[in-house]
Amino acid sequence: MFECLPLTSDATVGIDIDGNALRVPAHFTVAAALLASGKVMCRSSAVSGAPRGPFCMMGVCFECLVEVDGVPNVQACMTRVAEGMRVRAMQGKARRGSHDGDAMRSTDRGRGPGGDDGGL
Ligand code: FES
Repeated sequence: MFECLPLTSDATVGIDIDGNALRVPAHFTVAAALLASGKVMCRSSAVSGAPRGPFCMMGVCFECLVEVDGVPNVQACMTRVAEGMRVRAMQGKARRGSHDGDAMRSTDRGRGPGGDDGGL
């Protein structure tokens, strides 16, 4: 679906996606890095648990939310990669303010009316 354009620079950065280290072009967004690495699912729905991944690539759909360096709900398509960045998939809702360093929690996995979570 997506295709990389010819590179205009050889600059790369090292990032970690769910424990997998990789080097990506320095101009990539986190969403581009996810897709280039073959990782099309970056979170699960807080309502149904259905897999979600980058879709619009322009900050509109919010399907690309990930945890970046411990901060949950970051739009991967609007965030440029940086050296040493740690990207984690999110499971359900993310909660802020966790004291144990685990910013991601799975909560509210019940289905909404009719079983449709409306993409949430
Ligand atoms: S892919 Fe749609 S907001 Fe990021």
